[in-house]
Amino acid sequence: MKHVTFITVVWGLMLPSIFSFHIQDCGSKAGSFTNVTISSCEGTDPVCVLKKNSSVTLDIYFTTSVTDNNVTAEVHGIIQGLPIPWPLPDPNACHSSGLTCPLQPGNNYHYTATFPVLKSYPRIHLEVKWELKNESGNDVVCALFPVRIM
Ligand SMILES: *[C@@H]1O[C@H](CO)[C@@H](O)[C@H](O)[C@H]1NC(C)=O
Ligand SMILES: *[C@@H]1O[C@H](CO)[C@@H](O)[C@H](O)[C@H]1NC(C)=O
Ligand SMILES: *[C@@H]1O[C@H](CO)[C@@H](O)[C@H](O)[C@H]1NC(C)=O
Ligand SMILES: *[C@@H]1O[C@H](CO)[C@@H](O)[C@H](O)[C@H]1NC(C)=O
Repeated sequence: MKHVTFITVVWGLMLPSIFSFHIQDCGSKAGSFTNVTISSCEGTDPVCVLKKNSSVTLDIYFTTSVTDNNVTAEVHGIIQGLPIPWPLPDPNACHSSGLTCPLQPGNNYHYTATFPVLKSYPRIHLEVKWELKNESGNDVVCALFPVRIM
């Protein structure tokens, strides 16, 4: 029994650093993010779990090197290579997501958005691609991370 407990504890300590889920930069152009956090996940989780019938908040801390007058969030769930639009309650990132537009070069910005994980969503693994686009349709930031809907 003691042995089992020890093993469990050791695995508990080791797993996060080995399997922590990874947020990729998928083509941020004029901007770059310093970190991305998701309310339902720890950075040490092997995969970010999104619970059905819940609301999840995503935060992106970023900077930009150009002036962006207007910023729109575009989110896709990528299922077996196929990007499927993930509707947001308010895609206008200048409106209710903590950004004061126009974005100015060199400033630090904190974008925050809450999105629903509907009961009707399937229980699957997928990747989420979260883009903040400027008015020319160019990515200011693009973050890609694996999630599991449960
Ligand atoms: C939008 O992003 C592109 C690419 O980073 C940049 O060249 C442009 O100045 C930005 N702003 C506008 C208003 O297009
Ligand atoms: C993310 O970055 C911002 C600004 O750099 C910082 O204030 C915040 O504490 C960071 N959060 C995490 C979870 O690292
Ligand atoms: C979904 O969430 C709502 C509000 O949190 C709750 O009242 C309801 O019971 C939940 N439904 C299921 C099937 O979990
Ligand atoms: C900014 O983009 C949103 C769409 O996300 C649009 O509804 C709004 O009119 C735009 N604002 C300006 C000032 O262009």
